[in-house]
Amino acid sequence: MRIAVLVSGSGSNLQAIIDAAAADPTFPAEIALVLSDRPGVRGLERAEAAGIPTQVVAWSDHADRLAFTEAVCDAVEASDAEGLVLAGFMRILSAEAVHRFPNRILNIHPSLLPAFAGGHAIPDALAYGAKLSGVTIHFVDEQVDHGPIIAQQAVPVADDDTEATLHARIQAVEHELYPRAVADFAAGRLVVDGRHVRIQEPL
Ligand code: GAR
Repeated sequence: MRIAVLVSGSGSNLQAIIDAAAADPTFPAEIALVLSDRPGVRGLERAEAAGIPTQVVAWSDHADRLAFTEAVCDAVEASDAEGLVLAGFMRILSAEAVHRFPNRILNIHPSLLPAFAGGHAIPDALAYGAKLSGVTIHFVDEQVDHGPIIAQQAVPVADDDTEATLHARIQAVEHELYPRAVADFAAGRLVVDGRHVRIQEPL
């Protein structure tokens, strides 16, 4: 399956997917496009270094969220990608994206959803005094950080954790979990039934 990976920043999850695909000739996803909502980010550099086409759809060039979402979806369709992988993409797409790509948009979030949804999951978990955080990979639905859960893994919070140390441990888990989930998705192994996602093993 051809996929588009959407980034806003460092792109370390993008890199994990690039590396997983390079290491395994049977990896079922091919990255057709890396799209960013802003220019000059490391994620775009990583894509260019790997020879993957890139495109910037700047938030500021669009009148509203719907216009931005339509431009993103148009770019993805033009790349012939059938799935979208959000990897640190820090813009909320309008419901239009879910209508155009139902159960075909994956997101990664640095907490055990539904705890600590939103754009500040790691500082929020630290401020709350949580002992356990983690990683969630889910399909995107019409609500933010809400869709059916594909994979989750817990990450303990240490007493002396800072945002940086907790994020580093969370990212180490993300880099293992996301390429596996993308492979399951691209191979057609994910079966969605309402909120429930199961992984169907090949016969
Ligand atoms: C990741 O840790 C991801 O979980 C988080 O942004 C980081 C991006 O890192 N996403 C969110 O907070 C979404 N609300 P990366 O650019 O190095 O892949």
